[in-house]
Amino acid sequence: MVIRLDDKFVKPFISEEEINAIAPEIEAAAKTLREGTGKGSDMRGWLNLPENYDRAEFARIKAAAAKIKKTSDVFIVIGIGGSYLGARAVVEFLGSSRYNQLRRGTPEIYFSGCNISGSDLEELLSICEGKDFCINVISKSGTTTEPAVAFRYFRALLEKKYGTDGARERIFVTTDKARGTLKQFSDEAGYETFVVPDDVGGRFSVLSAVGLLPIAVSGVDIDELMGGAADAMRVLSAEGIENNDAYKYAAIRNILYRKGKCVEILVGYEPYQQMFCEWWKQLMGESEGKDGKGLYPSSVIFSTDLHSLGQYIQSGKRTMFETVLSVENPDSNAELPYDSANIDGLNFLAGMKMSDVNKTAMNGTLLAHVDGGVPNVVIRLADRSTRSLGYMIYFFEFACAVSGYVLGVNPFDQPGVEAYKKNMFALLGKPGYEEMTEQLRARL
Ligand code: PA5
Repeated sequence: MVIRLDDKFVKPFISEEEINAIAPEIEAAAKTLREGTGKGSDMRGWLNLPENYDRAEFARIKAAAAKIKKTSDVFIVIGIGGSYLGARAVVEFLGSSRYNQLRRGTPEIYFSGCNISGSDLEELLSICEGKDFCINVISKSGTTTEPAVAFRYFRALLEKKYGTDGARERIFVTTDKARGTLKQFSDEAGYETFVVPDDVGGRFSVLSAVGLLPIAVSGVDIDELMGGAADAMRVLSAEGIENNDAYKYAAIRNILYRKGKCVEILVGYEPYQQMFCEWWKQLMGESEGKDGKGLYPSSVIFSTDLHSLGQYIQSGKRTMFETVLSVENPDSNAELPYDSANIDGLNFLAGMKMSDVNKTAMNGTLLAHVDGGVPNVVIRLADRSTRSLGYMIYFFEFACAVSGYVLGVNPFDQPGVEAYKKNMFALLGKPGYEEMTEQLRARL
């Protein structure tokens, strides 16, 4: 089994009767999702994506990745939100949070266009100086300000270095198949384009060209990743809450929410999981946080954050529960060395694997947090392989959609994201926003 949901540390907080009582709601929500009778049903393309994807485009992604690897020291991925988080999560989960220092035979990869920081942009531009580089601009709408700004800069740098014709060979665009200024501009300029499927929203798009091109450039086998997701698709088609761990997870989340928990913390025990947590936060937060409802998704990496947020989780306001990500077969064999002086008193651990010490830290923390009144769900992932990660991505996407329907929201829209954009454009004086500009400026 690639993922096993362990509910042992939730049991002190949720009874069997509560699970049985919510089960029909979960099963009904899953039916709604599968049959496309719920809100946002036109955005369910991700549901069958692991099997139903464009094979010809998949081959083009591999060819483009090979070309980028051959011609680049540096690869700049330009996108924000769902247009970059999935790729970065996979690159770091399977490689390292230090991917750029440790990579073998693949380009350094940097993510730009995911903020409006001039300093960050200047740093990345300076990294490209004197190096061969390619860029991949990713924007479904093709109009998002942050990536559009970054694209201007990197395109100019490419054209300065390689000329217009040379730059054309180094610009790869992932966007809507027909709509948007980016698509129109790319076609006119002759850039190679990849498609964000119409029925796949940003935060569900990691297994489309959005995620797959940067992931392939990092050296990950994208067939394996898709294969893992396809495995999950088959396993999670099982009916009945007792047979389906995604159903169980959705049930536990909704029961705890109804009992007053308003924060879910995804807990990792490995630094390589940090960006995966960021991807998960967007998935959950943007899918469920609407209509005045939803769990606030947060994340920590232990034991690091036990020394910062551990105090609050152990004994602060009792509003949260934890979802712990446990990789059952760790990939590190590092052992604690013996030291004859034993000044630090650590010889009782000599010869023990670091991964076992880490697992013990996890078990100790689980017990302590449960004693402190924090329910803990444990997601037991078989290993850190590409296939298992593909499985886990699909697991969380599927559980998120089911959970959102149980909550009674449309898990596939994000109307709230527009509010800041409108204000920003009005305050920046964008044509068409004149009336709002005056009103907002008066309030500052
Ligand atoms: O999940 C989402 O839909 C968002 O996070 C988008 O991915 C993000 O806002 C970027 O949008 P776009 O790809 O249109 O530039």
